[in-house]
Amino acid sequence: MKITSAEFVMSNSDVDKCPNNPIPEYAFIGRSNVGKSSLINMLMQRKGLAKTSGRPGKTQLINHFLINKNWHLVDLPGYGYARVSKSSKKTFQKFITQYFEKRQQLVLGFVLIDCRHEPQSIDLEFMEWLGESQIPFAIVFTKADKLKPNALKRNIDVYAEKMLETWEEMPMYFITSAGNGTGRDELLDYIEQINLDMRNQ
Ligand code: GTP
Ligand code: MG
Repeated sequence: MKITSAEFVMSNSDVDKCPNNPIPEYAFIGRSNVGKSSLINMLMQRKGLAKTSGRPGKTQLINHFLINKNWHLVDLPGYGYARVSKSSKKTFQKFITQYFEKRQQLVLGFVLIDCRHEPQSIDLEFMEWLGESQIPFAIVFTKADKLKPNALKRNIDVYAEKMLETWEEMPMYFITSAGNGTGRDELLDYIEQINLDMRNQ
Protein backbone atom coordinates (compact mmCIF):
# COMPACT_ATOMS: atom_id res chain seq x y z
CA MET A 1 0.00 0.00 0.00
CA LYS A 2 1.24 3.43 -0.89
CA ILE A 3 0.73 6.00 1.86
CA THR A 4 -0.56 9.23 0.34
CA SER A 5 -1.70 10.94 3.52
CA ALA A 6 -1.48 10.46 7.27
CA GLU A 7 -3.17 12.97 9.56
CA PHE A 8 -3.62 13.11 13.30
CA VAL A 9 -7.36 13.25 14.10
CA MET A 10 -7.81 13.29 17.88
CA SER A 11 -6.81 11.94 21.30
CA ASN A 12 -9.29 10.42 23.72
CA SER A 13 -9.63 8.45 26.92
CA ASP A 14 -13.24 7.63 26.14
CA VAL A 15 -14.07 5.13 23.40
CA ASP A 16 -17.51 6.71 22.94
CA LYS A 17 -15.88 9.96 21.88
CA CYS A 18 -13.65 8.42 19.22
CA PRO A 19 -14.34 9.37 15.57
CA ASN A 20 -17.65 7.92 14.44
CA ASN A 21 -17.08 7.57 10.70
CA PRO A 22 -17.56 3.94 9.68
CA ILE A 23 -14.14 3.25 8.18
CA PRO A 24 -11.87 0.30 8.95
CA GLU A 25 -9.62 0.72 11.95
CA TYR A 26 -6.40 -1.00 13.08
CA ALA A 27 -4.97 -0.55 16.57
CA PHE A 28 -1.43 -1.01 17.86
CA ILE A 29 -1.16 -2.39 21.37
CA GLY A 30 1.56 -3.87 23.54
CA ARG A 31 3.73 -3.23 26.56
CA SER A 32 4.98 0.21 27.27
CA ASN A 33 8.15 0.99 25.34
CA VAL A 34 7.73 -1.94 22.92
CA GLY A 35 7.79 0.52 20.03
CA LYS A 36 4.14 1.12 19.06
CA SER A 37 4.49 4.81 18.27
CA SER A 38 7.84 4.29 16.53
CA LEU A 39 6.33 1.56 14.35
CA ILE A 40 3.46 3.85 13.34
CA ASN A 41 5.93 6.56 12.33
CA MET A 42 7.96 4.02 10.37
CA LEU A 43 4.86 2.71 8.55
CA MET A 44 3.74 6.23 7.70
CA GLN A 45 7.30 7.45 7.03
CA ARG A 46 6.55 10.47 9.20
CA LYS A 47 8.96 10.92 12.09
CA GLY A 48 6.95 12.99 14.53
CA LEU A 49 3.44 11.78 13.70
CA ALA A 50 3.08 9.63 16.84
CA LYS A 51 4.96 10.78 19.92
CA THR A 52 7.76 8.45 21.01
CA SER A 53 10.07 8.37 24.02
CA GLY A 54 12.88 6.33 25.54
CA ARG A 55 10.91 6.36 28.80
CA PRO A 56 7.93 4.04 29.08
CA GLY A 57 4.47 5.53 29.44
CA LYS A 58 4.72 8.16 26.70
CA THR A 59 1.42 7.45 24.98
CA GLN A 60 -1.41 7.95 27.47
CA LEU A 61 -4.50 8.24 25.29
CA ILE A 62 -6.29 6.62 22.36
CA ASN A 63 -4.84 8.43 19.34
CA HIS A 64 -6.57 8.28 15.98
CA PHE A 65 -4.80 8.89 12.69
CA LEU A 66 -6.58 9.05 9.34
CA ILE A 67 -4.61 7.24 6.63
CA ASN A 68 -5.14 7.76 2.89
CA LYS A 69 -8.47 9.37 3.83
CA ASN A 70 -10.05 5.92 4.13
CA TRP A 71 -8.87 4.04 7.19
CA HIS A 72 -7.90 4.74 10.79
CA LEU A 73 -4.78 3.73 12.56
CA VAL A 74 -4.80 3.90 16.37
CA ASP A 75 -1.88 4.39 18.73
CA LEU A 76 -2.69 3.15 22.23
CA PRO A 77 -0.97 3.51 25.59
CA GLY A 78 1.17 0.58 26.67
CA TYR A 79 0.07 -1.90 29.25
CA GLY A 80 2.13 -3.42 32.05
CA TYR A 81 3.84 -0.26 33.12
CA ALA A 82 3.79 0.01 36.92
CA ARG A 83 3.50 3.79 37.14
CA VAL A 84 0.42 3.67 34.96
CA SER A 85 -1.34 0.70 36.51
CA LYS A 86 -0.15 0.49 40.05
CA SER A 87 -2.58 -1.99 41.54
CA SER A 88 -1.39 -4.92 39.49
CA LYS A 89 0.88 -5.32 36.51
CA LYS A 90 -1.74 -7.61 35.04
CA THR A 91 -4.43 -4.98 35.05
CA PHE A 92 -4.92 -3.44 31.68
CA GLN A 93 -6.03 0.15 31.76
CA LYS A 94 -9.78 0.15 31.68
CA PHE A 95 -10.14 2.39 28.69
CA ILE A 96 -7.90 0.10 26.68
CA THR A 97 -10.11 -2.94 27.34
CA GLN A 98 -13.20 -0.81 26.73
CA TYR A 99 -11.74 0.35 23.45
CA PHE A 100 -11.33 -3.26 22.29
CA GLU A 101 -14.72 -4.34 23.59
CA LYS A 102 -16.76 -1.47 22.24
CA ARG A 103 -15.06 -0.16 19.13
CA GLN A 104 -17.27 -1.29 16.25
CA GLN A 105 -14.91 -0.07 13.55
CA LEU A 106 -11.96 -2.09 14.85
CA VAL A 107 -10.96 -4.66 12.25
CA LEU A 108 -7.85 -6.05 13.91
CA GLY A 109 -5.39 -5.33 16.68
CA PHE A 110 -1.65 -5.60 16.17
CA VAL A 111 -0.06 -6.93 19.36
CA LEU A 112 3.53 -5.77 19.53
CA ILE A 113 6.18 -7.95 21.11
CA ASP A 114 9.81 -6.97 21.62
CA CYS A 115 11.69 -9.68 19.71
CA ARG A 116 14.54 -9.64 22.25
CA HIS A 117 12.48 -10.91 25.16
CA GLU A 118 11.22 -14.33 26.18
CA PRO A 119 7.43 -14.73 26.12
CA GLN A 120 5.96 -12.58 28.91
CA SER A 121 2.79 -13.56 30.71
CA ILE A 122 1.21 -10.12 30.36
CA ASP A 123 1.33 -10.35 26.54
CA LEU A 124 0.17 -13.97 26.51
CA GLU A 125 -2.73 -13.05 28.80
CA PHE A 126 -3.67 -10.05 26.71
CA MET A 127 -3.80 -12.21 23.58
CA GLU A 128 -5.86 -14.83 25.43
CA TRP A 129 -8.25 -12.10 26.47
CA LEU A 130 -8.50 -10.91 22.85
CA GLY A 131 -9.19 -14.48 21.77
CA GLU A 132 -11.91 -14.97 24.38
CA SER A 133 -13.42 -11.65 23.33
CA GLN A 134 -13.27 -12.78 19.68
CA ILE A 135 -11.20 -9.81 18.63
CA PRO A 136 -8.93 -10.61 15.67
CA PHE A 137 -5.26 -9.84 16.13
CA ALA A 138 -1.86 -10.34 14.56
CA ILE A 139 1.53 -10.32 16.29
CA VAL A 140 4.21 -7.79 15.39
CA PHE A 141 7.72 -8.48 16.62
CA THR A 142 9.52 -5.16 17.05
CA LYS A 143 13.13 -3.95 17.22
CA ALA A 144 14.43 -6.66 14.87
CA ASP A 145 17.50 -4.47 14.22
CA LYS A 146 18.65 -5.24 17.76
CA LEU A 147 19.23 -8.95 17.10
CA LYS A 148 21.42 -10.93 14.74
CA PRO A 149 19.43 -13.08 12.28
CA ASN A 150 20.11 -16.35 14.15
CA ALA A 151 19.06 -14.97 17.53
CA LEU A 152 15.98 -13.43 15.94
CA LYS A 153 14.93 -16.71 14.39
CA ARG A 154 15.54 -18.56 17.63
CA ASN A 155 13.40 -16.11 19.61
CA ILE A 156 10.54 -16.31 17.11
CA ASP A 157 10.68 -20.11 17.26
CA VAL A 158 10.55 -20.00 21.06
CA TYR A 159 7.58 -17.63 20.88
CA ALA A 160 5.70 -19.80 18.42
CA GLU A 161 6.30 -22.85 20.58
CA LYS A 162 4.93 -21.02 23.61
CA MET A 163 1.85 -19.85 21.69
CA LEU A 164 1.15 -23.42 20.58
CA GLU A 165 0.68 -24.40 24.22
CA THR A 166 -2.53 -22.36 24.14
CA TRP A 167 -3.43 -21.77 20.51
CA GLU A 168 -4.10 -24.25 17.75
CA GLU A 169 -1.81 -22.36 15.44
CA MET A 170 0.59 -19.47 15.55
CA PRO A 171 -1.35 -16.30 14.68
CA MET A 172 -0.31 -14.24 11.67
CA TYR A 173 2.91 -12.45 12.59
CA PHE A 174 5.29 -9.83 11.25
CA ILE A 175 8.92 -9.08 11.98
CA THR A 176 9.61 -5.36 12.01
CA SER A 177 12.12 -2.68 12.81
CA ALA A 178 11.33 0.99 13.14
CA GLY A 179 15.07 1.47 12.91
CA ASN A 180 15.55 0.13 9.39
CA GLY A 181 12.05 -0.33 7.97
CA THR A 182 11.97 -4.14 8.05
CA GLY A 183 8.43 -5.46 7.65
CA ARG A 184 6.91 -2.21 6.42
CA ASP A 185 5.68 -3.48 3.04
CA GLU A 186 4.37 -6.75 4.46
CA LEU A 187 2.37 -5.07 7.20
CA LEU A 188 0.92 -2.37 4.96
CA ASP A 189 0.03 -4.89 2.25
CA TYR A 190 -1.72 -7.02 4.86
CA ILE A 191 -3.88 -4.06 5.90
CA GLU A 192 -4.53 -3.14 2.28
CA GLN A 193 -5.69 -6.66 1.47
CA ILE A 194 -8.12 -6.74 4.39
CA ASN A 195 -9.49 -3.32 3.41
CA LEU A 196 -9.98 -4.54 -0.17
CA ASP A 197 -11.68 -7.77 0.94
CA MET A 198 -14.06 -5.78 3.16
CA ARG A 199 -14.94 -3.39 0.36
CA ASN A 200 -15.69 -6.31 -1.98
CA GLN A 201 -17.91 -8.14 0.49
P1 GTP B 1 4.58 3.92 25.15
O1 GTP B 1 3.88 4.96 24.35
O2 GTP B 1 5.32 4.47 26.31
O3 GTP B 1 3.70 2.78 25.52
O4 GTP B 1 5.78 3.30 24.25
P2 GTP B 1 5.75 2.83 22.72
O5 GTP B 1 5.40 1.39 22.65
O6 GTP B 1 4.94 3.74 21.87
O7 GTP B 1 7.30 2.94 22.34
P3 GTP B 1 8.05 4.08 21.51
O8 GTP B 1 7.69 4.00 20.07
O9 GTP B 1 7.88 5.39 22.20
O10 GTP B 1 9.57 3.56 21.59
C1 GTP B 1 10.21 3.29 22.82
C2 GTP B 1 11.72 3.29 22.63
O11 GTP B 1 12.12 2.21 21.80
C3 GTP B 1 12.25 4.54 21.96
O12 GTP B 1 13.47 4.89 22.57
C4 GTP B 1 12.46 4.11 20.52
O13 GTP B 1 13.47 4.85 19.87
C5 GTP B 1 12.88 2.67 20.70
N1 GTP B 1 12.51 1.87 19.51
C6 GTP B 1 11.26 1.69 19.02
N2 GTP B 1 11.27 0.89 17.94
C7 GTP B 1 12.56 0.56 17.72
C8 GTP B 1 13.23 -0.25 16.73
O14 GTP B 1 12.62 -0.85 15.82
N3 GTP B 1 14.57 -0.38 16.85
C9 GTP B 1 15.27 0.22 17.84
N4 GTP B 1 16.59 0.03 17.89
N5 GTP B 1 14.69 1.00 18.79
C10 GTP B 1 13.35 1.17 18.72
MG1 MG C 1 3.65 5.24 22.39
